[in-house]
Amino acid sequence: MTQEELFKKLIAHSKEYGFIFPSSEIYDGLSAVYDYGQLGVELKNNIKKYWWDAMTRLHENIVGIDAAIFMHPRVWEASGHVGAFNDPLIDNRDSKKRYRADVLLEDYIAKQDEKIEKEVEKARKRFGDSFDEALFRQTNPRVAEHRAKRDAVHDRMVKALQDNDLQELRQIILDAEIVCPISGTRNWTEVRQFNLMFETKIGSVSEGANTIYLRPETAQGIFVNFLNVQKTGRMKIPFGIAQIGKAFRNEIVARQFIFRMREFEQMEMQFFVRPGDEMNWFNYWRETRMKWHRALGFGDDKYRFHDHEKLAHYANAATDVEFEFPFGFKEVEGIHSRTDFDLGNHQKFSGKKIQYFDTETGESYVPYVVETSIGVDRMVLQVLSAAYKEEQLENGESRVVLSIPAAIAPVKAAVLPLVKKDGLPEIAHRIMDSLKYDYNVQYDEKDSIGKRYRRQDAIGTPLCITVDHQSLEDATVTVRHRDSMQQQRVAIAELPALVADEVSLKKLLEKIMA
Ligand code: GAP
Repeated sequence: MTQEELFKKLIAHSKEYGFIFPSSEIYDGLSAVYDYGQLGVELKNNIKKYWWDAMTRLHENIVGIDAAIFMHPRVWEASGHVGAFNDPLIDNRDSKKRYRADVLLEDYIAKQDEKIEKEVEKARKRFGDSFDEALFRQTNPRVAEHRAKRDAVHDRMVKALQDNDLQELRQIILDAEIVCPISGTRNWTEVRQFNLMFETKIGSVSEGANTIYLRPETAQGIFVNFLNVQKTGRMKIPFGIAQIGKAFRNEIVARQFIFRMREFEQMEMQFFVRPGDEMNWFNYWRETRMKWHRALGFGDDKYRFHDHEKLAHYANAATDVEFEFPFGFKEVEGIHSRTDFDLGNHQKFSGKKIQYFDTETGESYVPYVVETSIGVDRMVLQVLSAAYKEEQLENGESRVVLSIPAAIAPVKAAVLPLVKKDGLPEIAHRIMDSLKYDYNVQYDEKDSIGKRYRRQDAIGTPLCITVDHQSLEDATVTVRHRDSMQQQRVAIAELPALVADEVSLKKLLEKIMA
């Protein structure tokens, strides 16, 4: 199965089992907007709890807030979003399709990389065991040709983006002979900047309408509350403020399912530090955030850092944590050293003093900020793409299983009476009652036990608890483990402890601090 096929199956599976639905589907959907179904919302909530606890419980100096989505319009002038939160757009005159100029170029670069890999694979097959890959990559003329094209476009693009040179961006597209995927022509317009913020009106027009924005990041809600939290919480620098909430961006190229959406959710933490200490904290958060990802157990080779070549308007250092999705390594999280840009600008634009008096140094200053910013939806996609597996079983059957880490699995255990009679459902309901106050558990008595196991595998339930006739005699049940499919006989009285151990979030959190 190719990665593309895998991704299509994942999208279909997410819908079929109630994880993710297209928004307003009965009206044919709304582009790049999705709804979470009954299992998707459980998974999302568990991911959010994993993040929230890792921030606010593992760090005594991090507290949370929940700020409003609507903010004073001047916030977005101060933050630089009104002036600089733009994407470079280009239209194809024949297809009337709109593209991000930098994405067209990135796709071109990715194509050259693919061509290089194809050459390497062909040669590997041709030469067999005697194949020297490093030498081939260095010396093969076709590889050299693809690489030269790739590097030339890459270097020009990075410079054009850095210089904000829109004419040059267009020229690179023309020089690389990039065609519109729909019309197949090179009939391109000029490149223009397009602001990504959604606007709306607050108050009625007669009262004097005011344009406000749907927030494009949650971070500003933290900055404008810096003094409120610092003073009321008697926080001492260094300290952090964490927040989870919706953000909105009018993305031009919205694709890859829930990877790039117009309405999405962020988990952001702003860590306020003494000026000059920011690089130490940047490195601390870079490592700590990578540990948080790796603790999920999808494999360390699934992650890498990508240091930014073009820094955002507020940053003096930035890196992405990238995860290997079915469509390649892509950003799931950004770690940015934002200097005193935001607090300094809010001080300027609001006219209110935003400073911290450091009792250790006897100085007042505008704190520097290191931010960690991760998309909840991208985490959901990360988990689903790493967890989705199609397996051939020894008995010749096959199964689809979601190997979601037990601590964040939507349903923790399913309780299954073998038959719907002989008192087995009654025992199963008693087991449900002993677990349901602590965990999301499902009761299922329909169909054969094999079918019921398959249903639970497909939604990632780590434990299936089967009540059978032996349970009537000795108060034991069979516990089946999702990944190994191994079964063990357990006393009913021991079930709460067994489930607690299997799905423990504490164990996951401990891995980060180890
Ligand atoms: N406050 C900094 C900030 O917003 P960002 O790199 O623009 O930085 C942070 O976004 C994270 O938010 C990204 O790493 C990604 O996980 C998520 N994100 C950004 N745009 C998104 C979109 N259109 N759809 C889904 N997630 C998105």
